[in-house]
Amino acid sequence: MSGLVNGRVVIVTGAGRGIGRAHALAFAAEGAKVVVNDIGAGADGSATGESPAEQVVAEIRAAGGEAVVNGDDVADWAGAQNLVQTALDTFGRLDVLVNNAGFLRDRMLANMSEEEWDAVIRVHLKGHFAPMRHAMAYWRGEAKAGNPVDARIVNTSSGAGLMGSIGQGNYAAAKAGIATLTIQAAAEFARYGVTVNAIAPAARTRMTVGAGGAMAESMAAPEDGFDAMAPENVSPLVVWLGSAESKEVTGRVFEVEGGKVSVADGWRHGEAIDKGERWDPKELGPVVEKLIARSEPPTPVYGA
Ligand SMILES: NC(=O)c1ccc[n+]([C@@H]2O[C@H](COP(=O)([O-])OP(=O)(O)OC[C@H]3O[C@@H](n4cnc5c(N)ncnc54)[C@H](O)[C@@H]3O)[C@@H](O)[C@H]2O)c1
Repeated sequence: MSGLVNGRVVIVTGAGRGIGRAHALAFAAEGAKVVVNDIGAGADGSATGESPAEQVVAEIRAAGGEAVVNGDDVADWAGAQNLVQTALDTFGRLDVLVNNAGFLRDRMLANMSEEEWDAVIRVHLKGHFAPMRHAMAYWRGEAKAGNPVDARIVNTSSGAGLMGSIGQGNYAAAKAGIATLTIQAAAEFARYGVTVNAIAPAARTRMTVGAGGAMAESMAAPEDGFDAMAPENVSPLVVWLGSAESKEVTGRVFEVEGGKVSVADGWRHGEAIDKGERWDPKELGPVVEKLIARSEPPTPVYGA
Protein backbone atom coordinates (compact mmCIF):
# COMPACT_ATOMS: atom_id res chain seq x y z
CA MET A 1 0.00 0.00 0.00
CA SER A 2 1.42 3.41 -0.92
CA GLY A 3 -0.04 6.68 0.28
CA LEU A 4 0.52 10.13 1.78
CA VAL A 5 1.47 8.74 5.21
CA ASN A 6 2.99 5.46 4.12
CA GLY A 7 4.66 3.63 7.04
CA ARG A 8 3.98 6.41 9.55
CA VAL A 9 2.77 5.24 12.97
CA VAL A 10 -0.31 7.13 14.13
CA ILE A 11 -2.29 7.17 17.39
CA VAL A 12 -5.91 8.31 17.09
CA THR A 13 -7.71 8.73 20.42
CA GLY A 14 -11.46 8.11 20.63
CA ALA A 15 -11.21 6.29 17.31
CA GLY A 16 -13.94 3.73 17.92
CA ARG A 17 -16.71 6.00 16.71
CA GLY A 18 -17.57 9.20 14.89
CA ILE A 19 -14.82 11.51 13.67
CA GLY A 20 -11.97 9.53 15.30
CA ARG A 21 -13.07 6.34 13.53
CA ALA A 22 -13.04 8.23 10.21
CA HIS A 23 -9.52 9.52 10.97
CA ALA A 24 -8.23 6.00 11.76
CA LEU A 25 -9.67 4.54 8.54
CA ALA A 26 -8.39 7.49 6.46
CA PHE A 27 -4.85 7.20 7.89
CA ALA A 28 -4.83 3.44 7.22
CA ALA A 29 -6.07 4.01 3.66
CA GLU A 30 -3.06 6.30 3.11
CA GLY A 31 -0.63 3.65 4.35
CA ALA A 32 -0.26 4.47 8.07
CA LYS A 33 -0.06 1.93 10.91
CA VAL A 34 -2.72 2.93 13.40
CA VAL A 35 -3.18 2.62 17.16
CA VAL A 36 -6.96 2.76 17.53
CA ASN A 37 -7.65 4.07 21.03
CA ASP A 38 -11.12 4.09 22.56
CA ILE A 39 -12.43 3.47 26.05
CA GLY A 40 -15.91 2.66 24.73
CA ALA A 41 -17.64 5.44 26.63
CA GLY A 42 -21.26 6.49 26.34
CA ALA A 43 -22.06 9.91 24.82
CA ASP A 44 -21.83 11.43 28.33
CA GLY A 45 -18.66 9.52 29.26
CA SER A 46 -20.42 6.72 31.20
CA ALA A 47 -19.09 3.16 30.91
CA THR A 48 -20.84 0.95 28.28
CA GLY A 49 -18.77 -2.24 28.23
CA GLU A 50 -18.55 -1.87 24.43
CA SER A 51 -15.24 -1.98 22.53
CA PRO A 52 -15.84 -0.14 19.24
CA ALA A 53 -12.06 0.18 18.71
CA GLU A 54 -11.90 -3.57 18.02
CA GLN A 55 -14.35 -3.21 15.14
CA VAL A 56 -12.29 -0.38 13.62
CA VAL A 57 -9.11 -2.45 13.88
CA ALA A 58 -10.91 -5.38 12.21
CA GLU A 59 -12.06 -3.06 9.39
CA ILE A 60 -8.52 -1.75 8.81
CA ARG A 61 -7.07 -5.26 8.80
CA ALA A 62 -9.78 -6.54 6.44
CA ALA A 63 -8.74 -3.81 3.99
CA GLY A 64 -5.10 -4.99 4.20
CA GLY A 65 -3.89 -2.36 6.68
CA GLU A 66 -2.10 -2.56 10.04
CA ALA A 67 -3.76 -1.52 13.30
CA VAL A 68 -3.84 -2.33 16.99
CA VAL A 69 -6.40 -1.70 19.73
CA ASN A 70 -5.74 0.38 22.82
CA GLY A 71 -8.44 0.79 25.46
CA ASP A 72 -6.81 3.28 27.83
CA ASP A 73 -8.50 6.36 29.28
CA VAL A 74 -6.70 9.27 27.57
CA ALA A 75 -7.09 11.49 30.64
CA ASP A 76 -5.43 8.96 32.97
CA TRP A 77 -1.70 9.74 33.34
CA ALA A 78 -0.53 6.12 33.34
CA GLY A 79 -3.12 5.23 30.68
CA ALA A 80 -1.82 7.93 28.34
CA GLN A 81 1.72 6.68 28.90
CA ASN A 82 0.62 3.13 28.09
CA LEU A 83 -1.11 4.42 24.94
CA VAL A 84 2.18 5.86 23.65
CA GLN A 85 3.99 2.68 24.74
CA THR A 86 1.48 0.58 22.75
CA ALA A 87 2.61 2.35 19.56
CA LEU A 88 6.29 1.81 20.42
CA ASP A 89 5.85 -1.84 21.46
CA THR A 90 3.69 -2.75 18.45
CA PHE A 91 5.18 -0.73 15.61
CA GLY A 92 8.58 0.36 16.99
CA ARG A 93 8.01 4.11 16.64
CA LEU A 94 5.49 6.96 16.79
CA ASP A 95 5.09 9.73 14.19
CA VAL A 96 1.64 11.24 14.70
CA LEU A 97 -0.66 11.77 17.69
CA VAL A 98 -4.25 12.74 16.91
CA ASN A 99 -6.05 13.84 20.10
CA ASN A 100 -9.78 13.46 19.46
CA ALA A 101 -11.48 11.56 22.34
CA GLY A 102 -14.09 13.28 24.46
CA PHE A 103 -17.70 13.60 25.54
CA LEU A 104 -20.32 16.17 26.55
CA ARG A 105 -22.27 16.98 29.70
CA ASP A 106 -24.21 20.04 28.55
CA ARG A 107 -25.85 22.35 31.05
CA MET A 108 -26.37 26.10 31.45
CA LEU A 109 -23.59 27.43 33.68
CA ALA A 110 -26.05 28.56 36.35
CA ASN A 111 -27.17 24.93 36.82
CA MET A 112 -23.93 23.07 36.14
CA SER A 113 -22.68 20.68 38.81
CA GLU A 114 -19.08 20.41 39.94
CA GLU A 115 -19.00 16.87 38.59
CA GLU A 116 -20.25 17.95 35.12
CA TRP A 117 -17.57 20.64 35.03
CA ASP A 118 -14.74 18.38 36.20
CA ALA A 119 -15.57 15.42 33.93
CA VAL A 120 -15.66 17.49 30.72
CA ILE A 121 -12.57 19.57 31.54
CA ARG A 122 -10.74 16.36 32.42
CA VAL A 123 -11.53 14.29 29.33
CA HIS A 124 -10.83 17.07 26.82
CA LEU A 125 -8.11 19.24 28.39
CA LYS A 126 -6.16 16.67 30.41
CA GLY A 127 -7.07 14.08 27.75
CA HIS A 128 -5.10 16.19 25.28
CA PHE A 129 -2.22 17.16 27.58
CA ALA A 130 -1.46 13.67 28.97
CA PRO A 131 -0.94 11.83 25.62
CA MET A 132 0.89 14.89 24.26
CA ARG A 133 3.24 14.95 27.26
CA HIS A 134 4.13 11.26 26.98
CA ALA A 135 4.55 11.41 23.19
CA MET A 136 6.84 14.42 23.61
CA ALA A 137 9.00 12.56 26.13
CA TYR A 138 9.59 9.93 23.43
CA TRP A 139 10.23 12.47 20.62
CA ARG A 140 12.53 14.59 22.76
CA GLY A 141 14.50 11.45 23.67
CA GLU A 142 14.82 10.56 19.98
CA ALA A 143 15.94 14.10 19.07
CA LYS A 144 18.51 14.14 21.88
CA ALA A 145 19.83 10.74 20.73
CA GLY A 146 20.43 12.26 17.30
CA ASN A 147 17.61 10.35 15.56
CA PRO A 148 15.63 12.43 13.02
CA VAL A 149 12.17 13.45 14.29
CA ASP A 150 9.48 14.67 11.87
CA ALA A 151 6.43 14.27 14.09
CA ARG A 152 2.94 15.72 14.27
CA ILE A 153 0.29 16.40 16.88
CA VAL A 154 -3.24 17.20 15.70
CA ASN A 155 -5.59 18.35 18.46
CA THR A 156 -9.37 18.71 18.39
CA SER A 157 -10.89 22.00 19.43
CA SER A 158 -14.42 23.06 18.50
CA GLY A 159 -16.42 26.03 17.26
CA ALA A 160 -17.75 26.09 20.84
CA GLY A 161 -14.20 26.63 22.08
CA LEU A 162 -13.46 29.38 19.56
CA MET A 163 -16.73 31.35 19.80
CA GLY A 164 -18.56 30.00 22.89
CA SER A 165 -21.77 27.95 22.82
CA ILE A 166 -24.85 28.42 25.00
CA GLY A 167 -25.37 25.46 27.37
CA GLN A 168 -21.81 24.14 26.86
CA GLY A 169 -19.70 26.26 29.23
CA ASN A 170 -17.58 23.34 30.47
CA TYR A 171 -16.97 22.08 26.93
CA ALA A 172 -16.32 25.56 25.48
CA ALA A 173 -13.77 26.31 28.22
CA ALA A 174 -11.98 22.97 27.63
CA LYS A 175 -11.93 23.43 23.84
CA ALA A 176 -10.69 27.04 24.15
CA GLY A 177 -7.96 25.66 26.41
CA ILE A 178 -7.06 23.13 23.71
CA ALA A 179 -6.71 25.90 21.10
CA THR A 180 -4.25 27.78 23.32
CA LEU A 181 -2.49 24.58 24.40
CA THR A 182 -1.92 23.94 20.67
CA ILE A 183 -0.24 27.33 20.14
CA GLN A 184 1.79 26.84 23.31
CA ALA A 185 2.94 23.32 22.44
CA ALA A 186 3.79 24.36 18.86
CA ALA A 187 6.13 27.03 20.22
CA GLU A 188 7.75 24.68 22.76
CA PHE A 189 8.07 21.60 20.53
CA ALA A 190 9.37 23.21 17.30
CA ARG A 191 12.98 22.69 18.40
CA TYR A 192 12.43 18.90 18.50
CA GLY A 193 10.92 18.60 14.98
CA VAL A 194 7.30 18.29 16.17
CA THR A 195 4.47 20.41 14.73
CA VAL A 196 1.23 20.97 16.65
CA ASN A 197 -2.03 22.08 15.02
CA ALA A 198 -5.71 21.80 15.89
CA ILE A 199 -8.98 21.36 14.06
CA ALA A 200 -12.44 22.59 14.94
CA PRO A 201 -14.66 20.11 13.09
CA ALA A 202 -18.39 19.82 12.45
CA ALA A 203 -19.95 16.48 11.52
CA ARG A 204 -22.88 14.19 12.12
CA THR A 205 -21.98 11.90 15.04
CA ARG A 206 -23.77 10.82 18.18
CA MET A 207 -22.26 13.91 19.83
CA THR A 208 -24.22 16.25 17.57
CA VAL A 209 -27.32 14.24 16.71
CA GLY A 210 -27.43 11.61 19.47
CA ALA A 211 -30.54 11.30 21.64
CA GLY A 212 -32.55 13.46 19.20
CA GLY A 213 -30.01 16.30 19.43
CA ALA A 214 -31.16 19.72 18.22
CA MET A 215 -28.92 19.53 15.18
CA ALA A 216 -30.25 16.16 13.97
CA GLU A 217 -32.41 17.59 11.18
CA SER A 218 -29.88 20.03 9.73
CA MET A 219 -27.24 17.31 9.74
CA ALA A 220 -29.26 14.52 8.10
CA ALA A 221 -27.65 12.82 5.10
CA PRO A 222 -29.19 13.91 1.76
CA GLU A 223 -30.80 11.22 -0.40
CA ASP A 224 -28.26 11.92 -3.13
CA GLY A 225 -25.35 14.24 -3.75
CA PHE A 226 -22.54 15.29 -1.37
CA ASP A 227 -23.17 14.33 2.26
CA ALA A 228 -21.53 17.44 3.77
CA MET A 229 -21.98 16.36 7.41
CA ALA A 230 -20.38 12.90 7.06
CA PRO A 231 -17.51 12.59 9.59
CA GLU A 232 -15.29 11.26 6.79
CA ASN A 233 -15.11 14.82 5.37
CA VAL A 234 -13.11 15.99 8.39
CA SER A 235 -10.31 13.42 8.03
CA PRO A 236 -8.47 14.40 4.80
CA LEU A 237 -7.10 17.58 6.44
CA VAL A 238 -6.04 15.61 9.52
CA VAL A 239 -4.22 13.04 7.37
CA TRP A 240 -2.46 15.85 5.49
CA LEU A 241 -1.50 17.54 8.79
CA GLY A 242 -0.12 14.15 9.87
CA SER A 243 2.01 13.79 6.75
CA ALA A 244 5.59 14.87 6.06
CA GLU A 245 4.17 17.49 3.64
CA SER A 246 2.79 19.67 6.46
CA LYS A 247 6.23 20.28 8.02
CA GLU A 248 6.06 24.09 7.73
CA VAL A 249 2.59 24.41 9.28
CA THR A 250 2.40 24.68 13.06
CA GLY A 251 0.43 26.50 15.77
CA ARG A 252 -2.70 26.82 13.60
CA VAL A 253 -6.36 26.07 14.24
CA PHE A 254 -8.37 24.99 11.18
CA GLU A 255 -12.14 24.87 10.96
CA VAL A 256 -13.30 21.96 8.79
CA GLU A 257 -16.79 20.96 7.71
CA GLY A 258 -17.98 19.21 4.52
CA GLY A 259 -15.77 20.45 1.70
CA LYS A 260 -14.81 23.66 3.51
CA VAL A 261 -11.45 24.24 5.22
CA SER A 262 -10.55 27.57 6.86
CA VAL A 263 -7.94 29.01 9.22
CA ALA A 264 -9.44 30.40 12.43
CA ASP A 265 -8.19 33.89 13.19
CA GLY A 266 -7.43 33.75 16.92
CA TRP A 267 -6.81 36.23 19.70
CA ARG A 268 -4.47 39.07 18.77
CA HIS A 269 -3.56 42.42 20.36
CA GLY A 270 -6.22 44.92 19.36
CA GLU A 271 -6.89 48.66 19.53
CA ALA A 272 -4.99 50.42 22.34
CA ILE A 273 -4.80 53.80 24.04
CA ASP A 274 -1.74 54.38 26.23
CA LYS A 275 -1.88 57.25 28.72
CA GLY A 276 1.73 56.67 29.72
CA GLU A 277 0.72 56.67 33.40
CA ARG A 278 -1.89 55.04 35.67
CA TRP A 279 -5.55 55.70 34.80
CA ASP A 280 -8.08 57.04 37.27
CA PRO A 281 -11.11 54.65 37.13
CA LYS A 282 -13.42 57.63 36.53
CA GLU A 283 -11.55 58.49 33.29
CA LEU A 284 -11.99 55.07 31.69
CA GLY A 285 -15.64 55.15 30.50
CA PRO A 286 -14.98 57.22 27.34
CA VAL A 287 -11.66 55.43 26.76
CA VAL A 288 -13.29 51.98 26.65
CA GLU A 289 -16.11 53.41 24.51
CA LYS A 290 -13.53 54.68 21.99
CA LEU A 291 -11.66 51.34 21.94
CA ILE A 292 -14.84 49.36 21.34
CA ALA A 293 -15.98 51.77 18.61
CA ARG A 294 -12.67 51.19 16.81
CA SER A 295 -12.76 47.38 17.18
CA GLU A 296 -14.47 44.66 15.13
CA PRO A 297 -17.47 43.22 17.02
CA PRO A 298 -16.80 39.66 18.26
CA THR A 299 -18.26 36.66 16.40
CA PRO A 300 -21.54 35.83 18.17
CA VAL A 301 -21.62 32.96 20.65
CA TYR A 302 -23.35 29.89 19.14
CA GLY A 303 -26.98 29.74 20.23
CA ALA A 304 -27.02 33.29 21.63
N1 LIG B 1 -19.21 16.05 15.89
C1 LIG B 1 -18.97 17.35 15.80
O1 LIG B 1 -19.65 18.10 15.04
C2 LIG B 1 -17.87 17.96 16.60
C3 LIG B 1 -17.77 19.36 16.61
C4 LIG B 1 -16.70 19.95 17.30
C5 LIG B 1 -15.78 19.15 17.97
N2 LIG B 1 -15.94 17.80 17.98
C6 LIG B 1 -14.94 17.01 18.71
O2 LIG B 1 -14.53 15.92 17.90
C7 LIG B 1 -14.12 14.82 18.74
C8 LIG B 1 -14.84 13.55 18.32
O3 LIG B 1 -16.22 13.72 18.56
P1 LIG B 1 -17.35 12.84 17.85
O4 LIG B 1 -18.37 13.78 17.39
O5 LIG B 1 -16.72 11.89 16.88
O6 LIG B 1 -17.92 12.06 19.12
P2 LIG B 1 -18.21 10.49 19.41
O7 LIG B 1 -18.93 10.43 20.69
O8 LIG B 1 -18.82 9.86 18.21
O9 LIG B 1 -16.74 9.88 19.57
C9 LIG B 1 -15.93 10.14 20.67
C10 LIG B 1 -15.21 8.87 21.08
O10 LIG B 1 -14.33 9.16 22.18
C11 LIG B 1 -14.33 8.04 23.06
N3 LIG B 1 -13.91 8.45 24.41
C12 LIG B 1 -14.61 9.21 25.30
N4 LIG B 1 -13.91 9.35 26.43
C13 LIG B 1 -12.72 8.70 26.26
C14 LIG B 1 -11.56 8.51 27.06
N5 LIG B 1 -11.49 9.02 28.30
N6 LIG B 1 -10.52 7.80 26.54
C15 LIG B 1 -10.60 7.26 25.31
N7 LIG B 1 -11.68 7.40 24.51
C16 LIG B 1 -12.72 8.11 24.96
C17 LIG B 1 -15.77 7.56 23.03
O11 LIG B 1 -15.89 6.21 23.47
C18 LIG B 1 -16.15 7.77 21.57
O12 LIG B 1 -15.96 6.59 20.79
C19 LIG B 1 -14.43 15.28 20.18
O13 LIG B 1 -13.27 15.83 20.76
C20 LIG B 1 -15.47 16.38 19.97
O14 LIG B 1 -15.54 17.26 21.05
C21 LIG B 1 -16.96 17.19 17.31
